[in-house]
Amino acid sequence: MKYLLKKMKYLLKLVSLLFSRGNYLTYLANIFFSDKGTLWPNRHNYTKHYHSLFKKNRYNKNLKFLEIGLCRGLDEGWAQNDVPSIRMWLNYFPHAKIYGYDYSDFSFFKHERVSIFQGDQGNKKHLNDFININGGEFDVIIDDASHASHHQQISLGSLFPYLKKGGYYIIEDLDWQPSEIEKKEAILTEKLLLSYSENKNFNSPFLTNDENDYISYNIDQCKMLDKKNQLFKLAIIKKK
Ligand SMILES: C[S@@+](CC[C@H](N)C(=O)[O-])C[C@H]1O[C@@H](n2cnc3c(N)ncnc32)[C@H](O)[C@@H]1O
Repeated sequence: MKYLLKKMKYLLKLVSLLFSRGNYLTYLANIFFSDKGTLWPNRHNYTKHYHSLFKKNRYNKNLKFLEIGLCRGLDEGWAQNDVPSIRMWLNYFPHAKIYGYDYSDFSFFKHERVSIFQGDQGNKKHLNDFININGGEFDVIIDDASHASHHQQISLGSLFPYLKKGGYYIIEDLDWQPSEIEKKEAILTEKLLLSYSENKNFNSPFLTNDENDYISYNIDQCKMLDKKNQLFKLAIIKKK
């Protein structure tokens, strides 16, 4: 049995390598079962871009990295017993402090460089509590949680002020919103960001005027990647 497991691990590493096209972060996504790579459904291929964005900061000892949304398959009834992308980031950034945020309980996952908070990304109080406990000055924040437009906007409104100058706020899967929680009155986050790019005004009905103004005045660049870049839609927002 042990021998078989060893063989399977070896095979997984080999297949992951073959599918990683020479990109180390993609290789890590593949071996840890994250869909940000090129092996597991939905093969988002985000790691290709993340590697070029983050590689110069890989060994930064003070890096603070937050991901919202930690495990796949809740709706499909999969056991929530792993944190694939957290394990990927831990290996990719050997010194960084990694923060996770999810409404499921991942407190079983223990690591000296990982801190996981249980909260709803659509709840401003939970988001504030997270900041009160963990402080701000994040280098990177990635939103890969519910993908509902109001949730993406509420998280952006609450967390963008706590991103470092020059830091990146990334929103994944802009082109897929879950119909069961998407609000009828919501404007797609993609639409709001495209309209920001045109008139430098971000205006979400789920945010206060102050929150909308803060975002509008503090975006340095907003890059949208999509199928042309072999991707599901992704926004990479750089702070001034
Ligand atoms: C797409 S998965 C994350 C996948 C993971 N980042 C990866 O790359 O392997 C979505 C996660 O978001 C969490 N989630 C969904 N709605 C949420 C909400 N309102 N607040 C916080 N987390 C939420 C789910 O519990 C699930 O763990």
